[in-house]
Amino acid sequence: MGTEIRVGPLSDVRDGALTAVVVGGHRLIVERRGDEVHVARNRCPHLGFSLTRGPGGLRYEDGVVQCPWHNSRFDVKTGDNLDWVTGFAGRRVPSWSRRLIGLGRRPRGLDTLSATVRDGDVYVVVE
Ligand code: FES
Repeated sequence: MGTEIRVGPLSDVRDGALTAVVVGGHRLIVERRGDEVHVARNRCPHLGFSLTRGPGGLRYEDGVVQCPWHNSRFDVKTGDNLDWVTGFAGRRVPSWSRRLIGLGRRPRGLDTLSATVRDGDVYVVVE
């Protein structure tokens, strides 16, 4: 099960953009694509760092967020990992050094949360 919490008005979430929010102590990313909203924890599964703040800055385009630390890329809607640890701060590095930066962690997806829009507000279910 889980607890549904209100994130805020849909109108506060810019269409086609990724927004970082903290709700009830939960650090989340919220993606809006028209009337559809997708939510995931703002936590990279590689080392647990923020997906929206870091040396590479926020990088988001067409439903894909790139971690600002080691460039792993994720589909925000599904949470799927698309690319795992390819460099640092948006720059690619040789494959031998990717293995070092990877620290032996295996590719994993984002922790996505069930989100709905009701009466103009965004709600998400948290554990
Ligand atoms: S912390 Fe995100 S790829 Fe390393």
